[in-house]
Amino acid sequence: MALMSAEKIIIGNWKSYKKGGEALEWFRAFEEGLRGKDITSKTVVICPPFTLLHLMNDLNRRWTYELYKQGIQIKIGAQDVSPFGEGKYTGEVNAEQLTEFVDWVIIGHSERRGALKETDDILIKKVEQAKAAGLKIVYCVENENVSIPEGVDVVAYEPPTAIGTGKPDTPENANLVAGLIKERNLYVQKVIYGGSVDPSNVVSFISQPNIDGVLPGGASLDPEKFLQLVLANPQ
Ligand code: PGA
Repeated sequence: MALMSAEKIIIGNWKSYKKGGEALEWFRAFEEGLRGKDITSKTVVICPPFTLLHLMNDLNRRWTYELYKQGIQIKIGAQDVSPFGEGKYTGEVNAEQLTEFVDWVIIGHSERRGALKETDDILIKKVEQAKAAGLKIVYCVENENVSIPEGVDVVAYEPPTAIGTGKPDTPENANLVAGLIKERNLYVQKVIYGGSVDPSNVVSFISQPNIDGVLPGGASLDPEKFLQLVLANPQ
């Protein structure tokens, strides 16, 4: 399904946080908070660690009847995918396996490019695998100069200095970079911003004409904060 142009995309990245009980509590609070609210112009994706994908997918199917009646559908995403298909790749989770639980996948997060030494070559393979499996791809870049493989659905502009530091980029600069990314990669239709997004600054980012949503990490761990991010509307 194509993303509508006015739609805002809110993607929560839980990173390597939470165990089952916490995920359950989070989901319950988030689901309750969404009842009676109108977020039909939003795409909401939650990206838990691999260990919680089964549970979160299950909760999302069982506990969302009230939301479904309101026209709200939450999506689950993975934070990474194997560059390989099925096979002898110990520890890897391949794209086809992910399709049992998720619709989306994050590829190329700066924490993986940095701490896990993922290169552009590896990331291209991940994009190919994810695309062949029919997953929607959020591809992270640190600036407008990073090459972006064709076929990604959303690009996330995430300057590493802003990630987890409480020091976000300015909305104006993020808008500029998002505009350059779209200009240089004509197939990229959606660019979101990530890096210390929280309820106090989200509107300033999503009000920018070139910014189509946000990718919060830390703020997505708290269901109340994530709810505020999801409910925020551009001015
Ligand atoms: P942060 O993380 O919101 O905690 O800065 C964003 C991200 O890493 O995607």
